[in-house]
Amino acid sequence: MSTHVFYSSEACKLPIYQFKKELIQAVKDNTFLVVTGETGSGKTTQLPQYLYEAGLCKDGKIGVTQPRRVAAITVAQRVSQEMGMKLGEEVGYQVRFDDCTSKNTMIKYMTDGCMLREILADSVLTHYSVVVLDEAHERSLNTDILIGLLKKTMSKKTSHGRTVCLKVVVMSATLETEKLSAFLGHCPVFTIPGRTFPVTEKFLNLIGPKDTERSAYVKEVVKVALDVHTNERAGDILVFLTGQSEIQKACDLLFQKAEVIDYRYDVNDSSVEGLLILPLYGAMPTDQQKQIFQPPPEGIRKCVVATNIAATSLTINGIRYIVDSGFVKQLNHSPRAGMDILEVVPISKSEAQQRAGRAGRTSAGKCFRIYSKDYWEKCMPDYTVPEIQRTSLTAVILTLKCLGVHDVIRFPYLDRPEERLILTALKQLYQYDAIDRRGQVTSLGKLMVEFPLHPGLTRALLKAAALDCEDIMLPVAAMLSVENVFIRPGQPETQKEADQKHRQIASEAGSFNDFVMLLNVFEKCKASDSPSAWCRDHWIHWRAVKSAFSVESQLREILHRLEEQGAVEKEKWDGSRSELFRRCLCLGYFTNVARRSIGKSFSTMDGHGSTVHIHPSSALSGQESQLDWIIFHDVLATSRMFVRTVCPIRYEWVKDLLPKLHEVDVYELSSVAREEVTDEEVAKWESKEALKRQAAESFEDVS
Ligand code: CDP
Ligand code: MG
Repeated sequence: MSTHVFYSSEACKLPIYQFKKELIQAVKDNTFLVVTGETGSGKTTQLPQYLYEAGLCKDGKIGVTQPRRVAAITVAQRVSQEMGMKLGEEVGYQVRFDDCTSKNTMIKYMTDGCMLREILADSVLTHYSVVVLDEAHERSLNTDILIGLLKKTMSKKTSHGRTVCLKVVVMSATLETEKLSAFLGHCPVFTIPGRTFPVTEKFLNLIGPKDTERSAYVKEVVKVALDVHTNERAGDILVFLTGQSEIQKACDLLFQKAEVIDYRYDVNDSSVEGLLILPLYGAMPTDQQKQIFQPPPEGIRKCVVATNIAATSLTINGIRYIVDSGFVKQLNHSPRAGMDILEVVPISKSEAQQRAGRAGRTSAGKCFRIYSKDYWEKCMPDYTVPEIQRTSLTAVILTLKCLGVHDVIRFPYLDRPEERLILTALKQLYQYDAIDRRGQVTSLGKLMVEFPLHPGLTRALLKAAALDCEDIMLPVAAMLSVENVFIRPGQPETQKEADQKHRQIASEAGSFNDFVMLLNVFEKCKASDSPSAWCRDHWIHWRAVKSAFSVESQLREILHRLEEQGAVEKEKWDGSRSELFRRCLCLGYFTNVARRSIGKSFSTMDGHGSTVHIHPSSALSGQESQLDWIIFHDVLATSRMFVRTVCPIRYEWVKDLLPKLHEVDVYELSSVAREEVTDEEVAKWESKEALKRQAAESFEDVS
């Protein structure tokens, strides 16, 4: 069976096109294949079409994973358009809480997280013929885990003497392909030669090694982007910033500076004095993303203000100028604070080069770096540390455990995380009662893995369900899973108005508590005759709340399914609904507990005793003196460690939980791995023979 695909002249010009035949053959001939080529050469959009055309779908779908949600969606849109098909039919996508596929879907773009969930349901991926792990160079946690898991899976398939029908293609933009190939049993590497044009790089010295004030960069990039707009000849601009709020702020500033007359916060579709300003960030609503790729109207310059997503995952045609802030926002696990902290950090030199390269795809370009050469040398590391080595592994370790990988320390990691990180994850899972003292998944752990949420939040939700108050926890979990719903405009007057409206929502909620505030937004909006008008009036992102509505019903479905199976045991606690709600939150967030110390500061109670402050965006900001114990959703590090989404609690609600923060001996938790593998076995393990056997055995655990 082969299907004819018509390739547009544009698609025929892509570097990958002339290697179509060889590529198809290489995929057919090998279980594992590494494909590499410059970003923009056509790997993501074209290769799946080639495989489809060559009839590789006859035994199952082609699944293509992306580390980023936006990439999965936009690429699927693009490919369905290229193939002249309706999105969701032959070509579809699936990201967390948004499934746009049907039974006809043959090419499925998805986040790496979704693929992990599919493996949980079906460890040998029966419904797939080819799995393409894209953007492997990004070294996202989930993609790294998938590479390890598929390596394991495939060794089982051969060890059982069955024909291997699943093909695995790992795609990467140049970096580390040797290492990938070696890891995958020295599989062949297919290189697509690319052409790039020279990019002039300029250091503007606006930020130097001594600049520790990490918020100035927003203003600086705006200034530089406007300079480019006024001084440089035609060509679009791509600005690299750090996150949603910074991007919105920059877009607002760009608008103001471009002297907009009739300005309202809707930055997405107005064009101002020849400058079309478009934000691009991860949690952005789907319908806004398409615009990014459309060429601007005649005589108008496009300026895309993006997160790192535009560095490799997405190629925007027509970009000639790069404005690089030099920063990226990352979730890092801080061993010192014992917490995952969202922080703005300098990018690596290799990342900066990748960013600059985006200007040289179709013609010569220019890259303006707001930092100095000195900063480059002193503050920027050479390479980016893979996510698996710097982030919390809690959710992933739970997934591995549920897949029957008990020995999470010896799992085949492409780059091994420090044992400390694995132990921290095990400890947290134990604290949530997801695993027992021997490191085995509990029945609660098995329930928790069903939810695409952080295990702590899932735990709070499951407890709420047991107490029959899921109606208040489901909306909160949903609101925490979508982009920030509160709009904070750039202009001081409108900012004041927005703040006032948000305060009003907070006070209407009865108690000052950010979780209840989220619930209040959800409920008020839902009950309103015109939700979009209500949102506009209250400076709330309607689209974000709308996706929270959908997320809520999806979470509710999962919960109902589990309840029907009788998996959720009911309990009864005394107390008002509001108290029950907060006590459920305590169960999920007791690892994030702090007590007020001096002045406005709080001290975390997990044994690390880090000093934290309530973020100004919190409804509780300014009320610190009336607070004693709090729990919080996350930590943002800027000039200080700020906790966001905060809830005041009573000591007695966490009293019984707190010992769990200290009692556990982490080495005991990993004992399963240690007991099974004695010194003698370790020696055997190292020999190749044993390696193969071990792979086969551990796979038996999986099935
Ligand atoms: O994966 P790789 O970086 O090798 O390239 P690609 O993402 O397949 O991009 C190939 C071409 O498709 C580029 O010229 C992109 O600009 C274009 N493209 C697009 O116009 N719209 C999209 N949504 C995705 C890609
Ligand atoms: Mg790509």
